[in-house]
Amino acid sequence: MELKMGFLFSSSPPALLLLLLLSLSSQLFLNGLPLAGAADIPLGATLTPSNSSSWTSDNRTFSLRFVPDPDNPSLFLAAVTYSGAIRVWTAVGADNTPAAVDSAASLQLRSDGDLRLTNGSGAVVWQSNTSGKGVTAAFLSETGKLILKNRRRSVWQSFDNSTDTILQTQNFTIGQTLKSGLYSFSLNNTGNLTLTWNDSVSYFNKGFTSSYTANKTLISPVLTLHTNGIVSLSDESLPGSVVIAYSSDYAESAVAMRFVRLDSDGNLRAYSVASGSITATSRWSAVADQCTDFGWCGNMGICSYNDTSPVCGCPSKNFEFVDPSDRRKGCKRRTEIEDCPGNSTMLQMDNTLFLTYPPEISTEQLFVGITACRLNCLLAASCAASTSVDDGSGYCYLKASNFVSGYQSPALPSTSFAKVCAPALPNQPQSG
Ligand SMILES: *[C@@H]1O[C@H](CO)[C@@H](O)[C@H](O)[C@H]1NC(C)=O
Ligand SMILES: *[C@@H]1O[C@H](CO)[C@@H](O)[C@H](O)[C@H]1NC(C)=O
Ligand SMILES: *[C@@H]1O[C@H](CO)[C@@H](O)[C@H](O)[C@H]1NC(C)=O
Ligand SMILES: *[C@@H]1O[C@H](CO)[C@@H](O)[C@H](O)[C@H]1NC(C)=O
Ligand SMILES: *[C@@H]1O[C@H](CO)[C@@H](O)[C@H](O)[C@H]1NC(C)=O
Ligand SMILES: *[C@@H]1O[C@H](CO)[C@@H](O)[C@H](O)[C@H]1NC(C)=O
Ligand SMILES: *[C@@H]1O[C@H](CO)[C@@H](O)[C@H](O)[C@H]1NC(C)=O
Ligand SMILES: *[C@@H]1O[C@H](CO)[C@@H](O)[C@H](O)[C@H]1NC(C)=O
Ligand SMILES: *[C@@H]1O[C@H](CO)[C@@H](O)[C@H](O)[C@H]1NC(C)=O
Ligand SMILES: *[C@@H]1O[C@H](CO)[C@@H](O)[C@H](O)[C@H]1NC(C)=O
Ligand SMILES: *[C@@H]1O[C@H](CO)[C@@H](O)[C@H](O)[C@H]1NC(C)=O
Ligand SMILES: *[C@@H]1O[C@H](CO)[C@@H](O)[C@H](O)[C@H]1NC(C)=O
Repeated sequence: MELKMGFLFSSSPPALLLLLLLSLSSQLFLNGLPLAGAADIPLGATLTPSNSSSWTSDNRTFSLRFVPDPDNPSLFLAAVTYSGAIRVWTAVGADNTPAAVDSAASLQLRSDGDLRLTNGSGAVVWQSNTSGKGVTAAFLSETGKLILKNRRRSVWQSFDNSTDTILQTQNFTIGQTLKSGLYSFSLNNTGNLTLTWNDSVSYFNKGFTSSYTANKTLISPVLTLHTNGIVSLSDESLPGSVVIAYSSDYAESAVAMRFVRLDSDGNLRAYSVASGSITATSRWSAVADQCTDFGWCGNMGICSYNDTSPVCGCPSKNFEFVDPSDRRKGCKRRTEIEDCPGNSTMLQMDNTLFLTYPPEISTEQLFVGITACRLNCLLAASCAASTSVDDGSGYCYLKASNFVSGYQSPALPSTSFAKVCAPALPNQPQSG
């Protein structure tokens, strides 16, 4: 036996050896945790963060368990995970962000058939609402689908109640929504992919398939990420499925699992996980320019790029960060307009745009030049900021909304104005 092992290892090419070791270690990792065992999870079964218990799919590819909250390591999230680490479904709170619970929390499939996440204090944080529906067991499939079923069929399933993730082979249809905080993703009945902020601002609405679908009414479009990394759209009215995007690593065999996620930054990305890995790598993103993503820098925040990344700043020293430790929370005026000791004035910001998307685009639009764009806002009590687009269209947008989102770049021709208490202070250098 030992001879055989020695032979196997010494004759294996290094790459194969590495793969073998990786798969051995991931097996050990999975096997090292206490398991409730595959197959059906009976009524009464309970998971807790403290004993690291989990419910697994047959081959232990996916597991339902508590994982540490990345934002606060003393708290936990209840999640369906891939390889015990990558969250693909998470119990969320009313604000559509993962519901963080303490170490005394529990997730129980109650005898009445309800799957319930309870915080240490006893408060019900999330529930499947399936009590009294004849649920007899839970089941986690090898594709990552959590199912609550009665004797005949599924009563509730995570693929119909996705949080922020669509798994490979999962069919995402019209009427379903991914949510992440204030951001949501859905499929338009034209097959367009749409991203919306706070159920109001549609900051991304793109048809990838217009040459196929231009003159067609789609019946029930379905978005699918295939195991080969191709994102496609299919519909009864189309002869075949239409490619929306190729992940940059499409058709590569080293990929063990793929998923599409609406990230907390409002971008929709396709991810890959390599065999044996417990980290995911982004291979396609719907929004190419992160700074066009409404609200990413919070109210009055100005998005710009440093050498490598999008960063958030404030318009000028008339403003300060709402939370200096999290610049994405936006900026506030040091003195509110109604409290100005003297006059208010317009702070000028060159190469800056206040993002304007439907439905605001029609109501805030004015056909005036730059000086009038500044003055109209100064004189209108309801106007907080304005943007002269300067792209040849002649448009000025007066921002009446109490939430505005800025973008600054040397490549932008726009000039923007923000109402502040006089005097307008110098613009802040944008820094990481
Ligand atoms: C974990 O704790 C729960 C609740 O106390 C219990 O029902 C379950 O059997 C425990 N699991 C393991 C593997 O110890
Ligand atoms: C589980 O693993 C076994 C052995 O590798 C394989 O034959 C089987 O197809 C797998 N089952 C599923 C559902 O993937
Ligand atoms: C659960 O309780 C902890 C500790 O009190 C608290 O920090 C956390 O916010 C609670 N989670 C929810 C979702 O209520
Ligand atoms: C369960 O019902 C509550 C109250 O109506 C609702 O807020 C919650 O979203 C429901 N949960 C699921 C998983 O649908
Ligand atoms: C959750 O899934 C069930 C069926 O699995 C479906 O009837 C229900 O509409 C879904 N709820 C939401 C909020 O998507
Ligand atoms: C998705 O839809 C296709 C085509 O209708 C079907 O073959 C496949 O089984 C569906 N996938 C899932 C996970 O339901
Ligand atoms: C599709 O887009 C149109 C135009 O933006 C909009 O009126 C309609 O409500 C959208 N439909 C869905 C299902 O999102
Ligand atoms: C989101 O919309 C709701 C309802 O329209 C509004 O009350 C809330 O202030 C908005 N959130 C932000 C951050 O503007
Ligand atoms: C779909 O997206 C295209 C841009 O790709 C846009 O011109 C069109 O208006 C969108 N359709 C709907 C219904 O929103
Ligand atoms: C859609 O219909 C219009 C008018 O009939 C036609 O000019 C156009 O070429 C059609 N587009 C496609 C993609 O078939
Ligand atoms: C405030 O504005 C008024 C009218 O434009 C002007 O007459 C006055 O001088 C301004 N006051 C100060 C302190 O700038
Ligand atoms: C750019 O911003 C990112 C994110 O804040 C930061 O990690 C990085 O160090 C910054 N780079 C430079 C050159 O300032």
